[in-house]
Amino acid sequence: MTWLITGGAGYIGAHVVRAMTGAGEQVVALDDLSAGVPGRLPAGVPLVRGSSLDGDLLKRVLAEHRVTGVLHLAARKQVGESVAQPTRYYRENVGGLVTLLDAVAEAGVRRLVFSSSAAVYGDPRVDLITEDTPCAPVNPYGETKLAGEWLVRAAGQAHGISTVCLRYFNVAGAAAPELADTGVFNIVPMVFDRLTRDEAPRIFGDDYPTPDGTCVRDYIHVADLAEAHLAAARLLSEGGVNGDLTLNIGRGEGVSVRELVTAIGKVTGDTRPPVVEPRRPGDAPRAVASAARARELLGWGAGRSVHEMVESAWRGWQLHHATATGQ
Ligand SMILES: NC(=O)c1ccc[n+]([C@@H]2O[C@H](COP(=O)([O-])OP(=O)(O)OC[C@H]3O[C@@H](n4cnc5c(N)ncnc54)[C@H](O)[C@@H]3O)[C@@H](O)[C@H]2O)c1
Repeated sequence: MTWLITGGAGYIGAHVVRAMTGAGEQVVALDDLSAGVPGRLPAGVPLVRGSSLDGDLLKRVLAEHRVTGVLHLAARKQVGESVAQPTRYYRENVGGLVTLLDAVAEAGVRRLVFSSSAAVYGDPRVDLITEDTPCAPVNPYGETKLAGEWLVRAAGQAHGISTVCLRYFNVAGAAAPELADTGVFNIVPMVFDRLTRDEAPRIFGDDYPTPDGTCVRDYIHVADLAEAHLAAARLLSEGGVNGDLTLNIGRGEGVSVRELVTAIGKVTGDTRPPVVEPRRPGDAPRAVASAARARELLGWGAGRSVHEMVESAWRGWQLHHATATGQ
């Protein structure tokens, strides 16, 4: 079996490559390097530089590498950018998937895992979000992920492709410092960025209907997330998915922004109090996964703690920051 991993040079993709190859799976990565870093890939893993929008390239890669399954992670992922450039997000995230699914169907590939997101739920106002909680995304990014799920299921049904959609919650941490997220779009790197600039962390809103008034999220270590992909790929290989499967990938445990900032203070040693700023539009008070279905059907659960996420992310941040500033 050979797995094509699109977005394989990205933050999560590189962790998936590492988990798959570490478990003895054969992989080929495809990435247009718009946000990817080739150096994240282990030696010996072929990297095809190109886009999921290039159908001819995809057909060639699927044939030349005798690909038998696809893990599709390549996408644009910034909510704010998706609000400013919705057509770009639909073109790249949904259009890229259309092109990929056409190539997959033509090549006779019968297994596919799709990177979805908790953003498909929007602001569901429930204690634990199950896979049956209605989807109502509140931004174009989330819409492209939901449309992607519809497309994956419809194409799977039409062409006999078994599919798994993984809805990731808030991803953080790194399996090794050089694999860390280098973008400053998620809360952990955003706080590191503030501290590095000698500024206090910011909290947007402390008047939400939550125990300490700040937003509550479900943080998952990227290495646990990568292992969920391996488990999904194995389940598909064993014929354990009859049609399609949709799974939340989280820890099932809520952590408030204030608690996270405190955890970051403990790791970095910088415990200055955060400043509270007004709420940001579109932030749901609480988004925590029920992780029961993934545990039952994948036999997978997240084992790594918030402390491990913050500590590993901090090591990655320090490495990158030292490199970026030439220290
Ligand atoms: N990071 C998160 O918290 C999070 C949460 C939920 C879902 N996701 C999803 O996980 C996936 C990976 O996210 P990430 O955090 O690793 O982001 P990332 O930007 O680090 O990785 C995406 C990779 O895909 C590549 N890429 C983008 N468009 C491409 C295209 N059209 N063709 C080929 N390559 C392309 C980029 O160069 C990059 O290497 C995305 O689908 C994202 O929407 C991420």
